[in-house]
Amino acid sequence: MTSTNQPRIAIVTGGGNGIGRATALKFAEAGYAVAVWDLAEQAAEEVVSAITAAGGVAIARKVDVSKPEDCVAGVAAVLERFGRIDVLINNAGVVRDGQLVKVKDGQVVGQMSADQFQFVLDVCLKGVFNCTQAVVPTMIAQKYGRIVSTSSVVALYGNFGQTNYVAAKAGVVGMTRVWARELGRYGITANAVAPGFIATDMVKSIPEKVYNALIEHTPVGRAGQPDDIARAYLFLADDKSSFINGAILSVDGGSVI
Ligand code: NAI
Repeated sequence: MTSTNQPRIAIVTGGGNGIGRATALKFAEAGYAVAVWDLAEQAAEEVVSAITAAGGVAIARKVDVSKPEDCVAGVAAVLERFGRIDVLINNAGVVRDGQLVKVKDGQVVGQMSADQFQFVLDVCLKGVFNCTQAVVPTMIAQKYGRIVSTSSVVALYGNFGQTNYVAAKAGVVGMTRVWARELGRYGITANAVAPGFIATDMVKSIPEKVYNALIEHTPVGRAGQPDDIARAYLFLADDKSSFINGAILSVDGGSVI
């Protein structure tokens, strides 16, 4: 609740599926009004239906986070409906894996394409920049805001076949630390969550052998669930988390890849 006893307003990008879906539901359950942004419009609408059926308040919108104009228009729609924006969860993300250079029998047989590299950077890095730049003027005017962005454990340790994704997620760590310095004076905190292996559509193409090895390397002995990350977002977004700024919170069951 704000000082005027209005509910806090949270935007969740990529809120239609996986971690974003669990996050939208969790924030609504905690009393936030939620704007569910996703490229997958129907998925976003289904999440909103689930929230409203449970007595919560939410709106859905098709937003491609890689397009600045979509983010600006999305912010205008949230302001029109709710009049303020307290929390931005920069959760939307994609993967397009491939080795930098793939070699077979001493011959180069493939490589990560420039398009493959750019696509992931556009969503996972520029998307976070676009959404944050679109909401920050409102947060400055309010003298209050919580920006929580999604990095990954791979940003901290690297990962085979993910030059593009690791570059983007490491960039999210860097931007978070810049924003913590630039925006703290306005009552705005910027933090990131670095999820480990979380069982969502994003990781369903992982071969069984690799999946089992990932679990084996996770001290708590299980894959993470979307709700594990949603809880971390909720904690960092809380009014009372005001002294946590520029932090990168690993939520990975203790795994180190
Ligand atoms: P997911 O694939 O289940 O959901 C991602 C959502 O983002 C989808 O609803 C998709 O439609 C949406 N999306 C994709 N491109 C978009 C765009 N341009 N604009 C708006 N929405 C877009 O993925 P998951 O696993 O829920 O991932 C959520 C975040 O967590 C991502 O940033 C991902 O990189 C990160 N993450 C996930 C991990 C995992 O093991 N699942 C591990 C570390 C980080």
